[in-house]
Amino acid sequence: MRFLFLGDVVGRVGRRAVLDNLPDLRARYRLDFVVVNGENAAGGFGITESIFQSLLDAGADVVTSGNHVWDQREALVYIERQERLLRPINFPAETPGRGVGLFRAQNGADVLVMNAMGQIFMNNLNCPFEAVDRELSSCPLKVGADAIIVDFHAEATSEKQAFGYFVDGRASAVIGTHTHTPTADDRVLPGGTAFMTDVGMCGAYESVIGMDAEEPVNRFVTKIPRGRFEAALGDATISGLAFETDDATGLVTRLNALRLGGVLKPTEPLFWID
Ligand SMILES: [Fe+2]
Ligand SMILES: [Fe+2]
Repeated sequence: MRFLFLGDVVGRVGRRAVLDNLPDLRARYRLDFVVVNGENAAGGFGITESIFQSLLDAGADVVTSGNHVWDQREALVYIERQERLLRPINFPAETPGRGVGLFRAQNGADVLVMNAMGQIFMNNLNCPFEAVDRELSSCPLKVGADAIIVDFHAEATSEKQAFGYFVDGRASAVIGTHTHTPTADDRVLPGGTAFMTDVGMCGAYESVIGMDAEEPVNRFVTKIPRGRFEAALGDATISGLAFETDDATGLVTRLNALRLGGVLKPTEPLFWID
């Protein structure tokens, strides 16, 4: 099966790039399943229901999120009726919405998607290792699902890599999100799980993690807020990870970081071009 995961969509620029390009990417690379992290899609802060719907219409099967999931307060309500929007699974039990779902792919396969948030330099939610472990036990790869994708939303590279090894061989892919900066370590772990510490964002990289640089620079220098953070304008890069699973095992056979457009060096199209 062929998958594409796109990193945090930031603001209008990132949204436009994804909406304009995803239908073509989906057809050209014969993708079976697409996951998009949408936590910054609304002006950099959260995701409205109409933006969520537009990502589905463009070809996303599931939209994941992270620490910004409630920035648009309406998400607390509409997430209950939108099963394809996931919030971190390790929020307290009473939290609206869900952090895991089993979804039918276009080819009929069942794909388990999970969203979990790290604890280092983040709001201290419940233990993500424990929460994901529980789901993997109740829905093991090739028993309960043909493929399992985890969006691990975290700041610390160590925590993300430890998490990768924790589920290696039990999930098809662990994809890091949140830092908005792609790492150069896309690879298959020894047990067959695709891994990338951070997949990067879909947004304008001429910025500070997607925000117009002026106010972040001001705050680092003066320590006094002068204005609001505004999502940066400019050319967008679409950042993602494409990977292919073996139907027999649900593990990954090949993968390729994807970077298109904008100011980052584009990736060489490898397997996903054929
Ligand atoms: Fe983000
Ligand atoms: Fe985040």
